Formats: sequence, structure tokens, C-alpha cells
Amino acid sequence: MFWKLFFNKAKPISTSWYRNAVVYQIYPWSFQDSNGDGIGDIQGIIDRLPYLNDGTPSSLGVGALWISPIYTSPMKDFGYDISDYCNIDPRFGTLQDFDRLIAEAHKRGIRIIMDLVINHTSSEHPWFKESRSSKESLKRDWYVWRDPQTDGSPPNNWLSVSGGPAWTFDQATGQYYLHHFLPEQPDLNWRNEWVRDAIADTIEFWLNRGVDGFRVDAMSHFIEDGLLRNDPANTQFKKEQDNEYDSFIHMFSTNRPQLQEIVHFLCDNITNRKNTFIVFETFLPIKEMVDMYRMHPDHHHAPFNFNFFRLEWSAPVYRTFVDAFEQALTPGDIPTYVFGNHDQPRLVSRFGEEKARLCAMLLLTLRGMPFIYYGEEIGMSNVDIPKNKIRDGFAHTSEHIGQSRDPARTPMQWDSTPHAGFTTGEPWLPLAADATEKNVSTETHNPQSLLNLYRALIWYRNNSVTLRQGTYRSVDVGNENIFAYIRGSSERILVLLNFSNTETVANIRPYTRTASTIALRTHSNSSNNIADTMILAPYEGIVIEL
Ligand code: NOJ
Repeated sequence: MFWKLFFNKAKPISTSWYRNAVVYQIYPWSFQDSNGDGIGDIQGIIDRLPYLNDGTPSSLGVGALWISPIYTSPMKDFGYDISDYCNIDPRFGTLQDFDRLIAEAHKRGIRIIMDLVINHTSSEHPWFKESRSSKESLKRDWYVWRDPQTDGSPPNNWLSVSGGPAWTFDQATGQYYLHHFLPEQPDLNWRNEWVRDAIADTIEFWLNRGVDGFRVDAMSHFIEDGLLRNDPANTQFKKEQDNEYDSFIHMFSTNRPQLQEIVHFLCDNITNRKNTFIVFETFLPIKEMVDMYRMHPDHHHAPFNFNFFRLEWSAPVYRTFVDAFEQALTPGDIPTYVFGNHDQPRLVSRFGEEKARLCAMLLLTLRGMPFIYYGEEIGMSNVDIPKNKIRDGFAHTSEHIGQSRDPARTPMQWDSTPHAGFTTGEPWLPLAADATEKNVSTETHNPQSLLNLYRALIWYRNNSVTLRQGTYRSVDVGNENIFAYIRGSSERILVLLNFSNTETVANIRPYTRTASTIALRTHSNSSNNIADTMILAPYEGIVIEL
């Protein structure tokens, strides 16, 4: 332990891009179509780079893009089932298009984070085809194959996240194979050295093309218990409301201690290159997230912090969480904050637009790395998808059809033209009914819009060393409904967030000076005067330079 602390202290903490960047997640199917086939593509992303960052505050100002998978795939899970790690799916373009994307993005100072889906492949991947061909295949052990129990049932009780058992019987060779997701997404066997070598090669392939980092999919699922012990039942499970997957505690099927080896493998193969970063997809509480930071002594990786998805909406709850998270981290660790992604309902549908404005201010004034899911900046909401148009594979295997993730994956709303400027063809998923009013073009012309709030917040952050690098400490302003914190120590910024639906008073006298000024308000029609007691409108947020 001592050497680790010493090591962490001794290593200078870099000021690399990932310590400063606001990351924007692109769901490639839905961002921008350039060829009229109704599906977004790489050229579409290139065309929209000026929207993302043209170096001026009239663009969004993001510093990095995380692009959900664009590799060759049969698309049973919309790219999270890869059949060729070293190629681009023709729906999205070619490797040459990808090289242009990297070049064009880098020209604008935008970094590219690729999705790395290596817990599993597609069942169409040549590795799996070979593995499944016979028990004697040289690639048999690249996947997790086991005999049935004596009654023919699966090797144990593990469940798949997408519904049903985590094992599928393969008639041809009489064994079951493991899949934490769809049967078309067989799990790779990460205990096999050849698998690691093959994945190391694919990582190198993309690093050599200039990618700046990876988001590692399904991190908790890489390694399972070697004895295949049954997961214990979850006694809190409620059949009527919970997802079947939650009927067990996934003690033996996920988050095994050997995950540390995988973290080492990934850091050794990725972040040993200068200026590269990894973010791991995990759903962990604070202690386990911190353990993950500690699994490797460098400071170029972080787990996703998804806790904002489930926190109860109240200032004390958010404050307690952020305080505890901040206190648990060492100075080099990069906290991550996320309010939405392609697996979650839209932020505006969870909270409503007013709270979404407050969330934007919170997200973009905390320390570390904020992630924005495409469309959150214009307040896109869940779109009702008629049953016959549901595309999400998980919706078809899960007991609850309502679990489709499609409502949060609909085409980006660019303007008021037909199909919202996303495509000239038939969009792959229906567009939101309000796309003619809620879109980039109309919001650009409205100074009070959510989009302009995001732009103002991001550019303020981009230009503020205090927000990007300063310390965090929460403070009392005499009112429980306000989550207040100060960023920085020499130049200081006070953030006030009113979580309540009533007008609320904050006593900021202990922190202000005569020169203090208001930098930003979520409700921009409020006054810009500083007072000892500030009145915040319902769900209002204020940023004050002290
Ligand atoms: C997590 C991804 O975010 C999700 O979309 C996908 O279905 C699973 N991993 C399986 O890859």
C-alpha cells in the first residue's frame, strides 16, 4: 500500500486533454446521415464537426467525442456485436472515412474515443465460428464452453443482462457457451493468452490510426468465477417491477477480483502511449469505483460514474454523494460524471426541462470529465416507438418490452425541415414529434434555449482554469435545498444550485467580496446583481466569480 501512495505522489500529474475535455457521446446510427440511407455515418459526423467545436462560442465547444461502435457488425445489438475488429461497418463508411474523421477532428482540437467492445464478439466473428466448429478447434478455448449439467440444463444459474439464461446450448458440439448479453454476443475467454494477444493487436491497429482513447464496454463482465458457482438470489427482488436480471446478486458472474489483471492489460496496451485515456463502463458505488482507480497506478483511466442515474433528486443527496466521491479520490484521479447515454431514458424525460438545465450546470461545473449524450444539449426527450418499429434486440429478449432503449436513440434534431435535417431518406427510427420546434437551428436563435445554456457553460469551463483544474469543496448557504460548492482556491468560483421547486434564498455573505460577479445563470432573465442573500428561482443555478 505504502509504495502505491508513494508512487502516486511521486508521479507528476499531467495536464493532458482528458483532464480538461468535455466529452460528447455520438450514437452513430442517429447523429447525421450523409447518403440518404436513413442511418447516420462517419461523413455525417465530419460534416457536423463545426457544430461540435469550431473554436468559437457559437459552437458547442466539446473537447472529445466518444463514438459508439462503428466496426463491422451484424447489428444484433447495434454495433455492440462486432464481427471484424479492424474494419468499419459499410453502413457508416470506410477506414479511409475514419482516417479523415480523425484528421478533421484533430485539426479542431477534438479527441476521438472509440468504443472497445471486447468482453464479447458477435457470433458471426470468424473467431467464434471457428471456436464453435468443433471441440478440438484451436480457438475452442477463446470462448467459454461448458458441458450441460446431468439433466441437460445450463452449467449454472447465471442470467444474461438482455434477458434469459447466460448460456446457450450449441447442438453441434453438445456444449453450452457463455454470453452475458444476447446469444449472438458470445463472451470471449479472458483467461486465454491468445485472446489477449489478439485484442492487443486490434488495440494497436486503432492507436496507430490516431485514436486518443477507448471506452471499454461491459467491464464488469470480463472475468467470471473459475468454479462457475451459482449467483445467490436477490432477496429484495420484486418480480412485478424489477428486471429479471436483478433476481440474482451477480457475485460470481461479474466484478471478480481478477478484473485487476484486465485493467493492467488495458493500461499496458493503451495508456502506455502518450496522451491516451480509458474510461471503463461499470455501474459501481463509490468504494468499488475507487478500487478501480487503484487497480493501476497511472492516472490515465477512470471508471464511469453512473450514480447520477439513480440518486434521489434532492440537494442534500447530491451533495453527500459528490462530497463522498471527491473525498475518496486522490489528486490524480479523474472523476467522471454522466446524466445520460444510449442505454438510459433521456434526461429531460426523467427530470423535465427545468431540472435538466440545473443538471447541465452541475455537470459542467464539477471537477473532472463530464459526458454529454448527443441531443441532451437540445433537450431531446424519449420518443414513443410503436411496437412494430422497435429495433433494440434487448427489447425482444427481455420479459419487459418496455425495456427497449430505442426511445433514447432517435435521430438528432438539427432543423425544422422534414426528418429534422438528419437524413433525406427514411430515418431508421422515428423522429420526435416535436422535432420541428426542438432542434439545433431554432434553439440557436433563442438566447434562453437549453442549447445556448450548454454552449455558455462549456465555453465558460473551457476558458476557466479554476473550473477545469480547481479544487472542489461544498459549502453551506443556510438552505438545505441549495447544493453549493466552491471551485478553486486562489481564484474561486461559487456554484449555487436550487434543487427545489420554490424560490429559495442563499446566504452567500461569508464567501463574497465586493468585486464578486455573476458569471452565469440558468434563468438568464434574472438580475445580475450580487447580494448577501441571493434569491434563486425554482430549479435555478448560478455561477459566481468570488
Ligand atoms: C453496454 C452497452 O452500453 C450496451 O449498449 C450494450 O448492449 C452492452 N454493453 C453489450 O455490449
